[in-house]
Amino acid sequence: ILGSLIVAVCSYLLGSISWSVIVSKLIFHKDVRDFGSGNAGMTNVLRTFGKGAAALVTVGDFSKSILTVAVSRGVFAHLFGTLPFDIGYIAGIFTILGHLFPLYFHFKGGKGVLTALGMILVINPIVFLVLVALCIPLLFICKIVSVASITGAIVYPIVTFIVLSLMNRPAMIDTVFSVFIGLLVVYMHRVNIKRLINGTEYKFGKPKEEK
Ligand code: G3P
Repeated sequence: ILGSLIVAVCSYLLGSISWSVIVSKLIFHKDVRDFGSGNAGMTNVLRTFGKGAAALVTVGDFSKSILTVAVSRGVFAHLFGTLPFDIGYIAGIFTILGHLFPLYFHFKGGKGVLTALGMILVINPIVFLVLVALCIPLLFICKIVSVASITGAIVYPIVTFIVLSLMNRPAMIDTVFSVFIGLLVVYMHRVNIKRLINGTEYKFGKPKEEK
């Protein structure tokens, strides 16, 4: 339990490093949260500051959960051997929570898609590949990032359950964790869902504008 607590706290602190805020402030001397959708995420950096900045944010937000999940799994395997649950989920969930509510940036962060994907890549690369294979084409068909993100979050538990069942591995605990993460990401997109219903959601290539 103490080990899980340490993993949770360290993951939250690392997840709180919001690369979109850091990149926008350091390079452009502006806060991405004052522009576009107001979100501290890669999509809003892309529409506000362009591809180079978005690439930096992608690497940062994606790799922070890869780091926390991989390191905590490695350390726990070394110390305790096999556990009844995957400590990677604790690391991943708290990294995502740090990303959503960053300690260093007034608790106003992003929506957790890239950070969740980093976690999924380490925990189950096949689930990651299936989600990417489903969502990337969807992104280019509908040209709305939030549609791909929300769809990915909804199908994530279903894909987890199917992939693990096909691999003859126990699926229940992973499915419960993935339902929680999926719901969290969908909830963070509640403003996007309203915009989608109203037909006012951002599409690719929309010029930057101050909030
Ligand atoms: O992952 C975030 C994306 O789905 C939506 O971002 O800036 O359009 O709210 P945004």
